[in-house]
Amino acid sequence: MLSLSGKAALVTGGAKGIGLEISLSLARHGADVAVIDKSEEALVQAVRDIERFNVRGLGVVADATRKADVDRAVERVVSELGKIDILVNNVGAYPRKPFLEMTEEFWTEMINLNLTSMFLVSRSVVPHMIARRYGRIINISSITGLYHGVPALVHYGAAKAGVVGFTKCLAAELAPYNVTVNAIAPGPILTPGVESIWSKEDIKLQEAINPLKRFGLPRDVANAVVFLASDYAEFITGQVIVVDGGLTFVNPRLSVKEVLRSSGAG
Ligand SMILES: NC(=O)c1ccc[n+]([C@@H]2O[C@H](COP(=O)([O-])OP(=O)(O)OC[C@H]3O[C@@H](n4cnc5c(N)ncnc54)[C@H](O)[C@@H]3O)[C@@H](O)[C@H]2O)c1
Repeated sequence: MLSLSGKAALVTGGAKGIGLEISLSLARHGADVAVIDKSEEALVQAVRDIERFNVRGLGVVADATRKADVDRAVERVVSELGKIDILVNNVGAYPRKPFLEMTEEFWTEMINLNLTSMFLVSRSVVPHMIARRYGRIINISSITGLYHGVPALVHYGAAKAGVVGFTKCLAAELAPYNVTVNAIAPGPILTPGVESIWSKEDIKLQEAINPLKRFGLPRDVANAVVFLASDYAEFITGQVIVVDGGLTFVNPRLSVKEVLRSSGAG
């Protein structure tokens, strides 16, 4: 049985969406879970839900793009949970903005949120992992920027491709300390963030063109995180696991034909 009992995890942006499901899945498998999030209200509920699994839950309100916030939060997690074995860098957002409407301020804000946050949190956590010669770092990237070019997401694609470079180089540097670093690249996943941007029609179309014929769910990403955090993945580092139901590897022309056929259009 896969067990994370006795482990302590930190999840950024873990109060909603994919991050919340990751936090709950780690707790379900026995880990104590601390969550950093900027939404205080969602954090309170997340900690209650984590503790339903009879593990310790801790919520810290912090902005993952601010070094002072991050250092204070990590210090609190280490002092209350005693250690951090598992770090999940999940914070991120994907507001659309056409390239020619992008200001330098917007670009910097998005790179800070989707990439620099990962540097700040890892920079604060890694010394604790090195000292204990143990760590599992899991970074949430995206298929956008790696396999899909998406209009109005240039900032996001650049940051998420950056996450993969960050993951591979950090994996190489931390391997001697028994700290593994891997990334997960999800396809579209149904979360509050996505539901606020995607129309119902777009969600239906995405379900139709996906080879596995459904939209991705937060639990699909959480399952991959639990695996990478477990002893089953102890010999895996510097890798990217794509969680997209096959979206990026099946010939898109075939999927479109299937959609047209199933709608009676050809
Ligand atoms: N949903 C998708 O389709 C999808 C696909 C690929 C990758 N991802 C990635 O997965 C991660 C989670 O996405 P989601 O859809 O669950 O997002 P979401 O918007 O539903 O949830 C994000 C969480 O992060 C928190 N947060 C945002 N900015 C923060 C900050 N500066 N400091 C601390 N907390 C902050 C929010 O309060 C919220 O709880 C992101 O990195 C996203 O890029 C999502």
